[in-house]
Amino acid sequence: MITSIRTAVFPVAGRGTRFLPATKAVPKEMLPIVDKPLIQFAVEEALEAGVTRLVFITHSSKRAIEDHFDVDPDLERALEAAGKDEILKTVKAILPKEVSCVFIRQGEPLGLGHAVLCARPAVGNEPFFVHLPDDLIRGDVGCLSQMAEQFRVSGSSVVAVENVPQDKTGSYGIVDVDDADRMKAIVEKPDPAEAPSTLAVVGRYLLTPKVFDLLETTGRGAGGEIQLTDAISDLLGHESVHAYRFQGSRYDCGSKLGYVQATIDAARTDPEIISALQGESLL
Ligand code: G1P
Repeated sequence: MITSIRTAVFPVAGRGTRFLPATKAVPKEMLPIVDKPLIQFAVEEALEAGVTRLVFITHSSKRAIEDHFDVDPDLERALEAAGKDEILKTVKAILPKEVSCVFIRQGEPLGLGHAVLCARPAVGNEPFFVHLPDDLIRGDVGCLSQMAEQFRVSGSSVVAVENVPQDKTGSYGIVDVDDADRMKAIVEKPDPAEAPSTLAVVGRYLLTPKVFDLLETTGRGAGGEIQLTDAISDLLGHESVHAYRFQGSRYDCGSKLGYVQATIDAARTDPEIISALQGESLL
């Protein structure tokens, strides 16, 4: 029986049109919350959950992500020479040595389901995480760690969910569950009038490799894209899937409001910023 999940897949090929012009030359996943890019929050959450292999499904416009996780000896030497030890430590800690990165290009923007299928050769025949870095989740224990614990209990796929306002169902995958939160149905971006509930999928999945077989034949769904949601719906015909209500605060950093909220909350807990603001009488 598998008890630890060693691979996390990060679909990062999509263009961040909602953040243009900021994302014209900078991947949206590289936008920082104060001083840390969203993609690094994502990777840290995966590492905390025990992951040792990171699979990025990427695009030619996203090279900065690859650079971010590469070593930069020139920078390290310069920081060392300048005696900037703390920041040098931070830079060196971006990626532990035992962790490997795989970058796979998603040539065409065919949807999240297609992006996940692109990861198949790197993942192989074992359960894996999918992490959407736009959804930043902060709390005492990382969301992926919580899901791994749930997987150890149930042994089945786990999809993180939270309640959203009724009028927002059209922005999410929405699930129907039984009394034990086993998923009965999942539908991509339903109109509020047709949504089976207000329980929305957030960007965290722990999936068994069976989903790859199903993705091979998943046709285009909502928005004309190959949807991961549709493959999970097919998976329900073969295996049980747990809808997991995680602990923590989620910020939709794909929207300006969510991004600003995440930034304000992070700044509020940064002692350096707090004392500087107090010094300027801005707090
Ligand atoms: C994707 C998924 C959707 C999920 C959402 C979470 O949609 O397709 O089911 O609820 O992520 O952020 P997207 O936001 O990429 O349109």
